Parts: sequence; structure tokens; C-alpha cells
Amino acid sequence: METERLEEMAAFFERRLGYYDSHMLEDIECAKEFYEFTARQLPKGACRVLDLGCGTGLELEAYFKRNPMASVAGIDLSAKMLGELRRKFPDKDLELIHGSYFEVPFGEDRFDAAVSVESLHHFAYPEKLGLYRRLFAAIKPGGYFVLTDYFAESPEREKFYFEELARMKREQNLPEGSYHYDTPLTLEHETEVLIEAGFSEVQRLNGWEANHTIIARKKP
Ligand SMILES: C[S@@+](CC[C@H](N)C(=O)[O-])C[C@H]1O[C@@H](n2cnc3c(N)ncnc32)[C@H](O)[C@@H]1O
Repeated sequence: METERLEEMAAFFERRLGYYDSHMLEDIECAKEFYEFTARQLPKGACRVLDLGCGTGLELEAYFKRNPMASVAGIDLSAKMLGELRRKFPDKDLELIHGSYFEVPFGEDRFDAAVSVESLHHFAYPEKLGLYRRLFAAIKPGGYFVLTDYFAESPEREKFYFEELARMKREQNLPEGSYHYDTPLTLEHETEVLIEAGFSEVQRLNGWEANHTIIARKKP
């Protein structure tokens, strides 16, 4: 079988930085709509929001237009993506954290809401469970997490993507690490992991082809 060469996660995005925004907005079906829709779900007024895998901040562009007063902490593996985000919003209340959201501490009861767009479809259920437990603790009671991402169309496809990734890592003799290869969960599995992490209610709000927005709430 023809195999693409796997690229390390941050390096993958940094090589494509020059055309990243235009690729996302022009080539991904309905991306402009889902960035706007995602931003509309986030709180208004003085509030603090955590963005997991903020990249160059396409969702934040839409959000800052609606809520210029928001205070946002954005985590990303790529220093260059974060550099581009800072360049776009020099005057916003934006804390940029260079690192992995699997490692950066989030704190407790600190955020009114959290958001993630097109970043979490690379990770398996057990990795997400640990991440979502920490995220749940970091969100204030009554707060919520808005996730817009790409989901697998069936459990069979979900399994296939993980098997393909394992095969490629084996054949390419790659060490443990994060590589850019899409391994989306189904909406059902994503919902299960969020509930297992503590969120009380998970609801699908909208969808565009394989991309959907879901909201996971923490009880007041
Ligand atoms: C497709 S981009 C999405 C960026 C932005 N949210 C958007 O929609 O334009 C995925 C981003 O997730 C980041 N990322 C992937 N794994 C990560 C991790 N473990 N911790 C932090 N950022 C991560 C990548 O560096 C990249 O900037």
C-alpha cells in the first residue's frame, strides 16, 4: 500500500504556516461558517476562555470581533503558529502558552469556557480521558467546552484510522511521539469520553459534512 511519510505534529504545521489560514478557510468545506458558529457559542463580556490547539487563531478572530474584551489563554505545540496569532492580535488580552495541552497545567475553576477547533482529532480515547478530566477541573461550575472538529463516520472507520497510524509508525520505524495523521473518534465515542471525564451534558449543536460542533457542560 502507498504510504504517506508521517510528519511530527508541530513541524507539519510550521512547514505550511505561509498558507495555513487560506487553506483552512478556502479548502475546508464550510470552514468560515463553523468558525463563526463556534465563536457565537462562547461567552460575552468580561470572561476568561481557554483555547486548546489555538494555532493562528481562526476561531479567535471570529470571537474577538464579537467580544473584544475577552481574556483568552491559547495553548499550542507550535511556536510559529503562536507567533502568527500574536502578530494578528497585538492589543488583545491573549496569553500564549507554547506546549502540549497534554502537559501544560490548566489550574482549577479558572475558565468560564474552553474551546478547541480542528486540533483534537489526532488522539485516542484514553489520552482524551486524561485531558478532558483536567479540562473539566479547569472550567468553572456552570461553564462549558465547545468543540468543533472532524469526526469519524463509523466505529469501523475510527478503528481503521488508528490501525493505519500504527502500521505507518511501525513501517517508518518512528519513535513514540505526536505525528500529523487524522484519527478522529466517532461523535458517540467523543461524547462518551466527555461524560466519563465529568461533563454532565453533551449536545451536538451543528454539523458541516464530517465536522461538527458539540458543547459539553459542567453543572453549576
Ligand atoms: C489544524 S490546526 C487548528 C488551529 C486552530 N484551532 C484553527 O482551527 O485554525 C491544529 C493545531 O493544533 C495544534 N496541536 C496539535 N496537537 C497539540 C497538542 N498536543 N498540544 C497543543 N497543540 C497541539 C497544532 O500545533 C496546530 O496548531
